[in-house]
Amino acid sequence: MMVNRAQDGAQATPLADDPSPQVVVIDFGAQYGQLIARRVRDLHVYSELVPCDVTAEELLAMGPSAIILSGGPASVYAKDAPRVDPNILELGIPILGFCYGHQLMTVTLGGEVAHAQAGEYGPAQLVREGASDLLESTPAEQTVWMSHRDSVSQVPKGFVVTARTDSCPVAAMECAERRLYATQFHPEVRHTSYGRRMLENFLFGVCRLEPTWTMDSIINRKVAEIREQVGQDRVILGLSGGVDSSVVAALVYKAIGEQLCCVFVNHGMLRAGEPEMVEQVFRDQFGMPLVHVHAEQRYSQLLAGVTDPEEKRRRIGSEFWRVFFEEAQRLDGVRWMAQGTIYPDIIESGARKTGGKASTIKSHHNLIPFPDGIHFDLIEPLDRFFKDEVRELGVALGLPAKMVYRQPFPGPGLAIRIIGEVTPQKLETLRAADAIVRQELDAYNEDLFAKTGDRNSEHSCWQYFAVLPGIRSVGVMGDERTYGQTVVLRAVESADAMTADWARLPYEVLARISGRIVGEVSGVNRVVYDITPKPPATIEWE
Ligand code: XMP
Repeated sequence: MMVNRAQDGAQATPLADDPSPQVVVIDFGAQYGQLIARRVRDLHVYSELVPCDVTAEELLAMGPSAIILSGGPASVYAKDAPRVDPNILELGIPILGFCYGHQLMTVTLGGEVAHAQAGEYGPAQLVREGASDLLESTPAEQTVWMSHRDSVSQVPKGFVVTARTDSCPVAAMECAERRLYATQFHPEVRHTSYGRRMLENFLFGVCRLEPTWTMDSIINRKVAEIREQVGQDRVILGLSGGVDSSVVAALVYKAIGEQLCCVFVNHGMLRAGEPEMVEQVFRDQFGMPLVHVHAEQRYSQLLAGVTDPEEKRRRIGSEFWRVFFEEAQRLDGVRWMAQGTIYPDIIESGARKTGGKASTIKSHHNLIPFPDGIHFDLIEPLDRFFKDEVRELGVALGLPAKMVYRQPFPGPGLAIRIIGEVTPQKLETLRAADAIVRQELDAYNEDLFAKTGDRNSEHSCWQYFAVLPGIRSVGVMGDERTYGQTVVLRAVESADAMTADWARLPYEVLARISGRIVGEVSGVNRVVYDITPKPPATIEWE
């Protein structure tokens, strides 16, 4: 369970031997920084991001075989523009720079960057010039993605220009002898047609790396690391049924079997079928020791009379820890606690906010409010994985796709989809309506996938659920006047939850959902569709 970060608590114990990245991406605040690391990993080469004030010594200690300088929003001539330690360029490790990284490599090595009259944003036609290690096996003319205002006007000594566009005379340059390469465009972005080929040329051609970062090798290495780290000790894990905690459970169990004990705190605000699925997968399928804590009653009392959304969230979050630690105290000899922290949590909570050094990333800690006298050392085996890698890992470990690819679901659960006080009756109504929404829109997404072959098809729903807004309205059923509940249908298209638009669902799908809800859920006589994008609305109602 990815739990709330509290005010004071414990520091995660780093793994004894964190894997050294084969490729280090030095991050200059790029919009696409994480994307670069992911693209490299897509090619089965392990890559990590480090903040831009990393020194040459620190880098050397990480032992990478290749370095990538990311893009970034600054102009290289701006007063506070981030710099790169010039010694990094002298380490003899192959380097590839993109956009800001391209310009920074230029000025650091004595070339020149000029302010251009006009910027270049979006697709551009790239024309190659001469031979190039980086652009090998790509067409003489091709589409690339640009996003810059300044341009390189003079390459450093020893470099040759290998490509240009109409408005960018040095779109790519290289010094093959020193194995230094740079592009003004973004090879990591899908719109750069041959970006993947360029990365392959760099990683496998120039750097002679092997594509060894595969799911099997990852699992084997993680299993060995966990075994070495925890030895004969017992490990406890808070299981929520969410993706991250489920994958950690499967991984740690593979490593140490019954030394792991999972505690599933059922707060009573889960969706239909979820507690059963947790039991079925972890206890029945895997055979893991699992404590199912029925805290439904306790939460029901805790939330009685509470209508403020933030207060609901606060109470639900802090109660989780109380229940969890009560349970933990019943278990003997537990030294470790496993957590589903993932790489974006680390990047966002550590380096980004502090602007710190590489070591800041390493010393990230996930804070947990241990009560007096209780302490566990933390293990966070997913702390270098992106979300899509966590899902892949889950599938490879045998978790059902339904669990691994489930849509986002907030920690406070259905409580923040019931406006006003949460009662058992309202939970029952919402759970029934929500099950219908999910059945129908799961099927809609599957149909769309069958037609388009694309899981992320433009019109597939990204998140969909029912909300109980606490409105009653007049209706008529048979000959009887009713005064029943309204259910809101919320269905959005989104990539990352930062922005979202309401899904343009076909009328017949809307009609079926509405018909089924009023027909099958007792006490509901009206269904409305939320047609507000985010912003200005949020995806959730509370
Ligand atoms: P909003 O409502 O802010 O939600 O547009 C953005 C995304 O975050 C999810 N969400 C949460 N996830 N704990 C979570 O783990 C929470 O408290 C929480 N609140 C919102 C929401 O479902 C959407 O995907």
